[in-house]
Amino acid sequence: MQISVRVGDMLREPADLAVLAMFEDMALPPALSGLLEPGDFAGKAKQSLLLYPRGAAVPRRLLLLGLGKAGSLSLDGVRQAAALAAQKAQDLKVAAFSFALPASMSLAAAAAGQAFAEGAELGLYSFLRYKTSPSESADVTAATLFVDADADLFQSGVAVGLAVSGGVALARDLANGPGNDITPTALGETAIDLGERHGFRVTVLDKAQLTEQGFHGILAVGQGSAQEPRFIVMEHGSAAEGAPTVCLVGKGITFDTGGISIKPAANMDDMKMDMGGAAAVLGAMQVVGELKLPLHVVGIVCSAENMPSATAYKPGDIIRTLSGKTVEVLNTDAEGRIVLADGLFYAQRYSPAAIVDLATLTGAIMVALGPHAIGMMGTSQDLADRLAAAGETTSERVWQLPLWDEYRDMMKSEIADLKNTGGRFGGAITAGGFLSAFVGDHPWVHLDIAGTAWVERATRPYYARGATGIGVRLLVELLRGYVG
Ligand code: BES
Ligand code: MN
Ligand code: ZN
Repeated sequence: MQISVRVGDMLREPADLAVLAMFEDMALPPALSGLLEPGDFAGKAKQSLLLYPRGAAVPRRLLLLGLGKAGSLSLDGVRQAAALAAQKAQDLKVAAFSFALPASMSLAAAAAGQAFAEGAELGLYSFLRYKTSPSESADVTAATLFVDADADLFQSGVAVGLAVSGGVALARDLANGPGNDITPTALGETAIDLGERHGFRVTVLDKAQLTEQGFHGILAVGQGSAQEPRFIVMEHGSAAEGAPTVCLVGKGITFDTGGISIKPAANMDDMKMDMGGAAAVLGAMQVVGELKLPLHVVGIVCSAENMPSATAYKPGDIIRTLSGKTVEVLNTDAEGRIVLADGLFYAQRYSPAAIVDLATLTGAIMVALGPHAIGMMGTSQDLADRLAAAGETTSERVWQLPLWDEYRDMMKSEIADLKNTGGRFGGAITAGGFLSAFVGDHPWVHLDIAGTAWVERATRPYYARGATGIGVRLLVELLRGYVG
């Protein structure tokens, strides 16, 4: 979508649809007096009222959109309002709409411009590529954001927001995509394509190379599948320029049947999204490349398909991971941590200032936090605090859980260095405890996105049923915090 920012009075400009966002109890502009009964529109959050003003140089349609109480407008309020406005434009088959925020709002211009672009773009996202005759939907191709001042700042924010939403849409497409198309091979090809388009280096290790180099965690999880596993490294920028190195590691299980410890049939189809962490890393790398962030960012994806078969890994198997540490497999459905063990250990070679992994790792995090927060554990409070702040800004909120030694101890095996399950209790944390054995002393945070990567229904106006693309906006915000 083309988004331009203009200084001016939206109500004096012709438009097919103008959206006036208003706080509760805000006086209507004089131009609208007499157009509606006072009391019909109170400005409550998400309340809306469509009007048809009369006159020459006025909008043909005017949507009043509530923002809730003045003073409590957040960036997510802007995102949600933008999504509702864009969706209304689509419903009305309007190709270009205008939008104005109250002059009295106190958000920073660039951040507000970014939030507007994110909301408008993501609100229109849909996953229709497998429909052979898509229902006719008019495309919303342009929006004009009317502001009082600082148009340049708003416009620079809009540019960031458009790049970010492109990354989120990529992540959603990958996680919505079915397991028969979104294979480990396909994720590798996506990475190569991104590298070509944005000028970063990409390495994709195939099965023979994984075997040669000792990635036995990824190999074990993938050995039951006809789809070969892949290890993907995308490297943007370089450490030589003095920029901090941040490693992003994503779980890329392109379908998780559970393996020999097979999952129940009900809703197993959802497990095509078990590469949501990888999707977030790929989406974030696209944005990093597009924004040319002056940082050294290494995106790592550990990808395999977890299948039961004659060649599958089994309960009782002992795996020698890339690190040399051995893992006793008690449950083949706890596969994410095994592939991540190789990826996290590999990340250490960059001596990174930060390692962040994202994984749809445990059902236990859904029990603990439900669908409204990412579970966070780690070894660096500074990094965790940065992510908490980025979570507030983006509304991809994180909630930290403890990672005390007692939890790590729960993952010790009698006969190998580690076992891959620690029982039902504290299941999200013991999974984090397992991962911590592979990061050395590097600042590291683990994000369990199992509860947030997928929604059964749109719980926010800029979500659609299915993949949320969570993690992309959070990671980009984290990374931008390391710049300058
Ligand atoms: N991919 C699942 C976790 C998951 C569950 C993601 C629901 C999204 C929605 C993961 O591989 C898994 O199966 N975890 C097991 C671990 C257990 C066997 C220790 C779980 O959470 O049940
Ligand atoms: Mn599993
Ligand atoms: Zn899984």
